[in-house]
Amino acid sequence: MGRRVLITGGAGFIGSHTCLVLLEQGYELIVLDNFDNSSPEALHRVQELAGSKQLAVVKGDVRNPDDLDRAFQTVDQVDGVIHFAGLKAVGESVAEPLRYWDVNVNGSRVLAAAMERHDCRTIVFSSTSTAYGEPETFPLREDMATAPVHPYAQTKVAVEQLLTALCSSGPWRVATLRYFNPVGAHPSGRIGEDPLGIPNNLFPFITQVAAGRRERLNVFGQDYPTPDGTGIRDYLHVMDLADAHGVALEHLWEQEPPYPLTLNIGTGRGLSVLEVVKGFEASTGISIPYDVVERRAGDVPRLEACPQKAKEILGWSPRRGLAEMCRDGWTWQQANPMGYRGGT
Ligand code: NAD
Ligand code: UFG
Repeated sequence: MGRRVLITGGAGFIGSHTCLVLLEQGYELIVLDNFDNSSPEALHRVQELAGSKQLAVVKGDVRNPDDLDRAFQTVDQVDGVIHFAGLKAVGESVAEPLRYWDVNVNGSRVLAAAMERHDCRTIVFSSTSTAYGEPETFPLREDMATAPVHPYAQTKVAVEQLLTALCSSGPWRVATLRYFNPVGAHPSGRIGEDPLGIPNNLFPFITQVAAGRRERLNVFGQDYPTPDGTGIRDYLHVMDLADAHGVALEHLWEQEPPYPLTLNIGTGRGLSVLEVVKGFEASTGISIPYDVVERRAGDVPRLEACPQKAKEILGWSPRRGLAEMCRDGWTWQQANPMGYRGGT
């Protein structure tokens, strides 16, 4: 029998792709999600793609101990947890810091207490490249100081600290993955990113312009200290990010401490906004009209990973390039013009 893994937030963008990868590797999964920012349809499609029924769904909130107990009790013993459930919009976190601290920090604390109750101390946690704040030297290495500049990143760093304290307190095995910018979709076009309303993020905005759902892209600032003046980010294919969770769990089960293990998950190759636009146009043949507008508050000029540690420790490296990110994101957008809400 495969190992049993509890996945909080498993119906979301990264969670749904990770569930598919883990089901294909033979794991038995329990997803806990309140569907605050996702749809149960994503999990139906994951099961359909995997041809597997080894996925139990518990509708519940990560802040609720009873919901967590129900999730843990669906199997005899949970072998590990991947903790995706959380809120992720930077601007919203500035407007609603209490909500972010409640869901992201309190939710993680309640989850960790449930893990102790159910004798499971192995966890992969979703952290963020924004933990590095507004850095000046590149590429970013995990031993550089964190300096979060908004409540979203502050909550992630607070959870990193909680998990570090747990590792000092007992036999916890923790991998903190600092994701850079995941984009794209599963190549089938059956699962993908499904933002509610106007997309916050560059990539889904581009695919919606390509589909004619939005007229033009706003490029937020062309006066950054970068070669073409637009912001640089380290985009990676969501399937590569999903793969990283599988190898991280294996590592936690097999390797002795010290823990926590903190790893950047990125490609090491930053791209500007205009390079992404050009890459999308080249791989789809569709032109993306854009206007350059003011900088967006809170954006930093550049974030770019050093991915060496994940390669050395996990043997993980991204395998898919920008052309695949664009192709797969566009396939998903075309097949699901209104996301999961358009039905199957
Ligand atoms: P997402 O919003 O698509 O997925 C999050 C999931 O968590 C959703 O299914 C949502 O319904 C669920 N959820 C939210 N609050 C919950 C609660 N209180 N109880 C139970 N379920 C809850 O986001 P995503 O892009 O898949 O991100 C997953 C994780 O990775 C998040 O923690 C996010 O902060 C982190 N992250 C994302 C990115 C990114 O660019 N997408 C980058 C860095 C880190
Ligand atoms: N951008 C535009 N126009 C848009 C949207 C974005 O020009 O319509 C620019 C931004 O200014 C930035 C770049 O595109 O330079 C990327 O912006 P995203 O919003 O796609 O991504 P961010 O790097 O701002 O943030 C994302 C997630 C965070 C996560 C972070 C790091 O939203 O939750 O990546 O992983 F923490």
